[in-house]
Amino acid sequence: MEKPFKDKTALITGSSRGIGKAIARAMSCLGSNVIVNYTKQGGSSEQQAKALSAEIESLGCKSLIIRADISSRDEVKDMFSKITSSFDSLDFLILNAARAPFKPIEKLFERELRMLVEVNLFGNIYCFQQALPLLEKSQGRIVFISSLGSRFYNPSYPLGIMKSAMEAVIRDLSCSLSERGINANAVCGGIVKTDSFKVLRQVWEGIERIPDELIVEPEEIADTVTFLCSPQSRGIKGQTIVVDRGLSNRVYHF
Ligand SMILES: NC(=O)c1ccc[n+]([C@@H]2O[C@H](COP(=O)([O-])OP(=O)(O)OC[C@H]3O[C@@H](n4cnc5c(N)ncnc54)[C@H](OP(=O)(O)O)[C@@H]3O)[C@@H](O)[C@H]2O)c1
Repeated sequence: MEKPFKDKTALITGSSRGIGKAIARAMSCLGSNVIVNYTKQGGSSEQQAKALSAEIESLGCKSLIIRADISSRDEVKDMFSKITSSFDSLDFLILNAARAPFKPIEKLFERELRMLVEVNLFGNIYCFQQALPLLEKSQGRIVFISSLGSRFYNPSYPLGIMKSAMEAVIRDLSCSLSERGINANAVCGGIVKTDSFKVLRQVWEGIERIPDELIVEPEEIADTVTFLCSPQSRGIKGQTIVVDRGLSNRVYHF
């Protein structure tokens, strides 16, 4: 049976590890070519990106690794030059990369505040601006990865502010771009045990008490992303779908 995303191409920002990696795998399982992006030069990120890229190619899909810091407009421009010279189209833009200090807002240094905004708001907008002509040609999809911090208080989690802002950006884009045939949605994930969880558990007393059955697997986020990239989700526009195993339905603390 032909794979539904055959001959399509996805850029997944921050896909060397964690949730981005699970999304890259899920997209390639459905036949999509994948651009794997990460930012840290050398070391384990680069190695993980190479291993992931080899895995994607073993499924018969094309894969390109691009090291680029999305908070740099120039690096994002370079990334898109590489994409256009290697692929005929870009069909899916998955805005997954994030980096943020884990500390209370009142304790943020100016450089941390800048990093928060520059990676998680500017960076996503730079990517989207560069992707726009390509997505218009392919009538493509944008999916942003948000978190529960967009709507609930999480201790030492200023990233939540940027997640709220980006959910609003997605809502805006879905309206302003609909005439151009581009659709945008978001997936708001619950707690996922990736590398960032290791930091979160140091600042969020009680997070360890959340029962295992309420911990989300990266693949559960990835499956919702592939759904939002599929024609079956064509009626969903500008929405944020919560994938948290029902954690946010519970009003008590653990
Ligand atoms: N973990 C959770 O509980 C959770 C829950 C809900 C939503 N989310 C969201 O899901 C997404 C992925 O989270 P995760 O936990 O999988 O993160 P992670 O394990 O910390 O991985 C982050 C990825 O983003 C990349 N990245 C960071 N800054 C970047 C930049 N400036 N430019 C390009 N790439 C950059 C990293 O690259 P390097 O490897 O080079 O550093 C890495 O590939 C984030 O948006 C996060 O907010 C996470």
